Amino acid sequence: KRPVGAPDKGLARKVTKVGVIGAGLMASQFALLFVRKLQVPVLITDLDQARVDKGLAYIHDEIGKLEAKGRLDGDTANRLRGLVHGTTDKSEYADCDFVIEAVFEEVGVKQQVFGEIEQIISEDAILATNTSSLSVEEIGSKLAHPERLVGFHFFNPVAVMPLIEIVRTPHTTDAALSTAFVVARGLGKNAVLTADAPGFVVNRLLAKVMGEAARAVYEGTPVDKVEKAFAPLGLPMGPFQLIDLVGWKVAAHVQDTMAHAFPDRFYANENFHALAELPEIVEKDKGGRVTGWTKQAEKLLKPAVGK
Ligand code: 3HC
Repeated sequence: KRPVGAPDKGLARKVTKVGVIGAGLMASQFALLFVRKLQVPVLITDLDQARVDKGLAYIHDEIGKLEAKGRLDGDTANRLRGLVHGTTDKSEYADCDFVIEAVFEEVGVKQQVFGEIEQIISEDAILATNTSSLSVEEIGSKLAHPERLVGFHFFNPVAVMPLIEIVRTPHTTDAALSTAFVVARGLGKNAVLTADAPGFVVNRLLAKVMGEAARAVYEGTPVDKVEKAFAPLGLPMGPFQLIDLVGWKVAAHVQDTMAHAFPDRFYANENFHALAELPEIVEKDKGGRVTGWTKQAEKLLKPAVGK
């Protein structure tokens, strides 16, 4: 039985070239997945060549690791490397049939990026956003063809996490939605259709977990004790390790979005952003990641959280 709202897969557009907008860690991770699993050309762009090169280096490195582990033979690895192309020239999106963005998590930025891309792509190309908590309908509200936009939300680490949240807006056509489901299946992921509501499904839970963990530290429980206390819940990693994996800036942004959308249910931790300084401090810490990280987290959390 098809999930409610998932249209007939016969409506799906054939995807022969994927465009990825952004070459940050999330974008690079799914660009790699697209090339590995769909084996079609994948284009990545970013604001400048240095960012593009960083994304390409990540993809090439990961392909090298798969080759070293014997999961890809040499010929396939070389073919995959050849299928990924990075540039700052957006005109190369012209022949992409599925274009997904992972740019800064700000509605205006995403609207602007899609506005530019829509001038370049063909009328029936599908657009997807990897937004983690913004309204997909609002992101598409400036498009000439909002009916081609779907939410397509990956989880970190992309190679491992089995889920993609697919979001339909009131305008999304069955063809666009169907394409999203078929692409997700092609990537080897489980797709769940969610309402276009803040945090969709997963980030509602995770933002709660992260927010409450931060609050517990503010109230005086050390970070390592909070991590330990969460263990019986059976999560694969503690809340702070998870924040560190997702990135403190992203976690803070999700926290803000949820607090804004549901002020009665999430803490209005405007200062959660102070925590975004943490990864830099961790990188500088030569004395052992966990210890340095834990101490710094406590120092930052005390004044930052719970205002
Ligand atoms: N990138 C790529 N692959 C990775 C990876 C990474 N960052 N981290 C781990 N892996 C791979 C390893 O290579 C290994 O693959 P293999 O078995 O094929 O060799 C496999 O994952 C297992 O790795 P490990 O044995 O080293 O480690 P664990 O068994 O401890 O698993 C984990 C690591 C998968 C990260 C696990 O701890 C986990 O599932 N953590 C929770 C992650 C989570 O909840 N993510 C959701 C975040 S929310 C989000 O992204 C949404 C956003 O909008 C905020």
